[in-house]
Amino acid sequence: MEIRFKDQTILITGSASGIGKGIATEFAASGGNVVIADLNEAGAQTTADELAREHGVQTMAVRVDVTSKAECQAMAGKVMGRFGRIDCLVNNAGVTLSYPIEDFPEDKWDLTMAINLKGYFLITQAVVPRMKAGGRGGSIVNIASKTGLRGSAANSAYSASKGGVVIMTQGWAREFAPEGIRVNSVCPGNVLHGSGNWSDELKRSYAVKLGITVGEVEQHYINQVPLKRPCTVEDVANLVVFLSSDKASYITGCWHLVDGGQEMR
Ligand SMILES: NC(=O)c1ccc[n+]([C@@H]2O[C@H](COP(=O)([O-])OP(=O)(O)OC[C@H]3O[C@@H](n4cnc5c(N)ncnc54)[C@H](O)[C@@H]3O)[C@@H](O)[C@H]2O)c1
Repeated sequence: MEIRFKDQTILITGSASGIGKGIATEFAASGGNVVIADLNEAGAQTTADELAREHGVQTMAVRVDVTSKAECQAMAGKVMGRFGRIDCLVNNAGVTLSYPIEDFPEDKWDLTMAINLKGYFLITQAVVPRMKAGGRGGSIVNIASKTGLRGSAANSAYSASKGGVVIMTQGWAREFAPEGIRVNSVCPGNVLHGSGNWSDELKRSYAVKLGITVGEVEQHYINQVPLKRPCTVEDVANLVVFLSSDKASYITGCWHLVDGGQEMR
């Protein structure tokens, strides 16, 4: 099954690094022109240059803070100015700020919601009218998390933001279906390597929560997975690319786990 995105424009937020970069790489390898949209402007440019060089596609780096409506609108305008179309959107930029409820700083709660939930809304609000104007339909994939389906301890804001993404996805799938725009969410397991989310600070907070050493944290999470390995960036990217392609033309409004069987019911 060959998937190609020739002449299509794919916009991925938070794609300077981590899972987003892996997703952008898979789209570029499938012939798509990719927009690397990230707060980290220098990192976005480096990734865009790398993908253009390695895959011979057109790439664009654009700085955007997904918490700013003005920046999201300006970014979408710049992408239209360069490519004249947006076919696929991947909402991916997100943070994991984890604290027990008693110690949860209010500003960290607000920041989590501003990036992980409102950021997806603001980017989609900027992109969808342009997608609709193209008259070709399109695809939106929202990166949620297995934690959006089953809350994890000492992780209130992250769980709530990702649960919100799963439900918001369904609403958008109904709302945009008349225009042929499909919307799905992807719920990865623990991507322990190649992701900035699993920072030393996060591992320290999980060690405290679980009463284990920092060195034992990774194995603790691997032990919960029937396939006995962490989720990889490529596992997530393969699913996102499939869902964004015509091969998934009858799939919309669903959440899709990619978690080695961890959350099977
Ligand atoms: N790593 C995991 O185990 C895991 C598991 C499930 C879901 N996820 C989700 O995957 C997505 C990507 O996570 P990751 O692990 O690659 O994280 P990461 O920290 O490696 O990458 C996040 C990217 O988002 C960018 N970013 C952060 N704030 C931004 C903002 N306000 N505006 C624009 N860009 C911003 C960062 O600069 C960075 O390039 C997130 O939504 C995360 O919740 C991650």
